[in-house]
Amino acid sequence: MERFDLVIIGSGPGGYVAAIRAGQLGLKTAMVEKDKDLGGTCLNVGCIPSKALLTSSDHFIFAKKEAEKHGIVVGSVDVDLNKMQQRKEKVVKTLTGGVRALMKTNKVTTFEGFGTITAPGKVSVKSSDGKTQEIETKNIIIATGSAPIELPFAKFDGKTIVSSTEALTFTEPPREFLVIGAGAIGLELGSVWARLGSKVTILEFLPRIAVGFDLELSNLLQRSLTGQGITFHLETKVSAIKIDNGRVTATATRGNEELKFEAAKVLVSVGRKPFSEGLGAEKVGVEFDEKKRIKVDQHFKTNVDGIYAIGDVIAGQMLAHKAEDEGIACVERIAGKDGHINYDAIAGIIYTNPELAGVGLTEDQAKEKGIDYRVGRFPFRANARAIANDDLDGIVKFVADAKADRILGAHILQHAASELIAEAVSVIEFGGSSEDLARTCHSHPTLSEAVKEAAMNVEKRALHILNR
Ligand code: NAI
Repeated sequence: MERFDLVIIGSGPGGYVAAIRAGQLGLKTAMVEKDKDLGGTCLNVGCIPSKALLTSSDHFIFAKKEAEKHGIVVGSVDVDLNKMQQRKEKVVKTLTGGVRALMKTNKVTTFEGFGTITAPGKVSVKSSDGKTQEIETKNIIIATGSAPIELPFAKFDGKTIVSSTEALTFTEPPREFLVIGAGAIGLELGSVWARLGSKVTILEFLPRIAVGFDLELSNLLQRSLTGQGITFHLETKVSAIKIDNGRVTATATRGNEELKFEAAKVLVSVGRKPFSEGLGAEKVGVEFDEKKRIKVDQHFKTNVDGIYAIGDVIAGQMLAHKAEDEGIACVERIAGKDGHINYDAIAGIIYTNPELAGVGLTEDQAKEKGIDYRVGRFPFRANARAIANDDLDGIVKFVADAKADRILGAHILQHAASELIAEAVSVIEFGGSSEDLARTCHSHPTLSEAVKEAAMNVEKRALHILNR
């Protein structure tokens, strides 16, 4: 029986990054993955394929609607969805293959099969051909991720009632595409299929979209997406779904009103739940919380010695980069180093066009906490590069402590918000103030000047707008 210092169960961004760090630190490491390809949900059926389709469909809209404005004559524009999907598959293969190569260079042994913890320090791996291998280890990290939540009255059938996994593989745009839930998944996949020709209707239980993000920017995003042809019904709770002759009829309530929606397909994107089925964690005494998440301390250790957990299977935001940083911190701790993670400096992003990005406190959260705060804003329509790019949609908004001026939150709505937010994350990580950012020289002409100007607007001294 092979004996390891560390066995990681799950090869998503949490698991595989933990494995690389463990390899770097000289731990004899193994990683167990039930699927054929490494990379977990993010690489295979989540972040990566969705971004491939979002980019391709965004280019299509550019060619169809924007190119002419730039003096580019493209003639008639069409979509070859087969080719678009093949490109997406190639992107996924490049990255999953890259993870496999990284495991080799970092001397991590990979086991293909379903991992079960049979006792502390013991993992059994059952492969698809029914064979079982037993591994011994000093430490185990559970990085088994999450799975889509099903509505009790609408079980996934993979064809008509779909999760994000199938909504990434359609071979033609559904004529009408009904989306339940206006979170990251609903908004991103709703955008992809709306751009490619589906009539998209999004039903959301709350009175707003993109919950968790700053309300002002969420409302602006809703207005943009409405302009792109997506219909929203807020405060609308879906209570039943029927399939008749391959057509969907959803029944929903808004106040006392009963509404019916018909569609060719329905995406259920009402959240994800931690995945730990068949893992054996309960049997060895690992404690779970009321939401079936594995309970860990600040060092990601469960109540059982030698068993740790990171990523979507524990509490916190279900984000790939949160899982990665937890994986690194957890392994460093196991190796006797001091791993650390700052949950106030983790950005959330929705990759629509414009993209919505946010880190730290929203204005409402600052208000609820009774913090004396100031806000700085800057619209992209006053930014030279945004005008040159013809990408005027969106704003930057800072929430800063009124006395200390420390940046508490940063929120960006822009085509490139996912990249622009990184600067604000760094400043928050270093405990910086709006003045620190305002006095940092930003290159001209760049979109990032809007970030600087929003920081200047905290003190009402932005240059290219009337300060309010
Ligand atoms: P979510 O939790 O972000 O949003 C689900 C929405 O569905 C909520 O607004 C909720 O109010 C609504 N809802 C729930 N039940 C409903 C009902 N019966 N009728 C109407 N609306 C209902 O969940 P989502 O979008 O499925 O994402 C799952 C997880 O994956 C999230 O934690 C998300 O952050 C993460 N994720 C992150 C991405 C990113 O960073 N870009 C991309 C995709 C997923």
